[in-house]
Amino acid sequence: TARTPLIAGNWKMNLDHLQAIALVQKLSWSLKDARHDYGDTEVAVFPPFTDLRSVQTLLTADKLSLVLGAQDLSPHESGAYTGDISGAMLEKLGVHYALVGHSERRHGHGESDEVVGAKTLAAHRAGLVPMICVGETAADLAEHGAAAVPLAQLAAAVAQLPRDAEIVVAYEPVWAIGSGQAATPEQAEEVARAIREALRDLRGDDSAAATRILYGGSVTSQNIAAFLKQPNVDGALVGGASLKADEFSRIVQFR
Ligand code: G3H
Repeated sequence: TARTPLIAGNWKMNLDHLQAIALVQKLSWSLKDARHDYGDTEVAVFPPFTDLRSVQTLLTADKLSLVLGAQDLSPHESGAYTGDISGAMLEKLGVHYALVGHSERRHGHGESDEVVGAKTLAAHRAGLVPMICVGETAADLAEHGAAAVPLAQLAAAVAQLPRDAEIVVAYEPVWAIGSGQAATPEQAEEVARAIREALRDLRGDDSAAATRILYGGSVTSQNIAAFLKQPNVDGALVGGASLKADEFSRIVQFR
């Protein structure tokens, strides 16, 4: 099975809803205007919750082929969870993907593997595709090598998930996030290959073959092509560089 390349832009806590509209408009112009052929690449943006409605309205009105993602969701379905946003609310807004287990949630908000597993299941139950983020810190790397922590995080995240549920896995070494120091394409491939092998055991051959594995961490228009050349890297999760329309559109056209 050929896996459709996926370029995802995680805006993190940036851009108010007016700036979000401006960015999506600029992005769609630069993707359309130049008549660039970015082939069958799927492009997704992950705005903050407060921007989702504006971006969704724009995408619908302009028939833009950007896919919408959310940066987080509640592990619960509904109820007395002040400040939380449910998967059902997101699904109703046309959101397709939900990030779970981003290192900024794991480290900044103390999200355990159990919480990430519950969020993964909640996303699936709400009809969203969980984009499961895994990655080792610099200390993990020194102590256990690159793959051990990501594989343990992955196993915990999918533990309760039906085997045929679609997922995306984003491998993001924590030391490469926002540091300007990306992993090498070979490092990314090594862990992506280990992730695909683990998926075979965890979820079966078909799921392992169909699941897209992204690399994230200081991706730019300069290094994207080398990552996408790796046989087990099917796309990228882009942070900082997704906030600039020109740069993100160059990344999308990595071919
Ligand atoms: O979710 C995106 C990643 O954390 C990567 O961020 O591209 O700014 O390094 P970055």
